[in-house]
Amino acid sequence: MKEIKLIGISGSLRSASFNTAVLTAVLRNLPSGVSAGIADISPLPFYNEELDDADQPEAVLALREKILLADGIVFCSPEYNGGVPGVLKNAIDWLSRPMHGSVFRGKHALIISASPSAVGGARMQAQLRCDLSACELRVLARPQVVVGQAHMKMIDGVFSDDKTLAFAAKAVADLVMEIRIYQAGLAALGMGVPNAASDRLHAR
Ligand SMILES: Cc1cc2nc3c(=O)[nH]c(=O)nc-3n(C[C@H](O)[C@H](O)[C@H](O)COP(=O)(O)O)c2cc1C
Repeated sequence: MKEIKLIGISGSLRSASFNTAVLTAVLRNLPSGVSAGIADISPLPFYNEELDDADQPEAVLALREKILLADGIVFCSPEYNGGVPGVLKNAIDWLSRPMHGSVFRGKHALIISASPSAVGGARMQAQLRCDLSACELRVLARPQVVVGQAHMKMIDGVFSDDKTLAFAAKAVADLVMEIRIYQAGLAALGMGVPNAASDRLHAR
């Protein structure tokens, strides 16, 4: 069976981020036939349509290429003031263009949120789901992986809550299954994964 490639994106730039720690722990525990890496969104400039031309910034090209080569994306983000942190929304805006031909097309996504609060960033999840669906990403319907009181589940900077990790592993397995079903369906129809961005990126 073809290897499935996942890319993790953290919505926090903090070096001691709980969300990056959760993402790292989740992507360390993958089903067989699945590989993963974490993309760094910190070098991205603020989105400016004038920069999004033939001469796109190197950080943008590098991130777009990573997503293009992936089958699925695992987002793990804090909630800022009840919503999606600006740095994550900025990355999504870069990845969403060009409309109907972005690297997001045909990709699947899983949303995780973590917070020291008891509700674990759940309000952010609703917004992020809406943002990602607008970019033609296929967001896994369930389960919602919400990590409350994340600060109490860390040991020496490593996210270490076995119960949460087992739950998240099931969500990743569901994501991989969705990807495999989607790709098998396209193959049965004699179609490839639709992505108009590939020519543009690979031509550089
Ligand atoms: C600007 C800002 C807004 C925040 N708003 C929320 C919020 O709405 N809900 C919440 O649960 N935590 C909120 N927090 C607290 C974050 O959950 C906490 O700082 C968390 O550790 C950030 O995630 P990280 O550890 O991955 O960086 C906020 C923090 C900041 C800096």
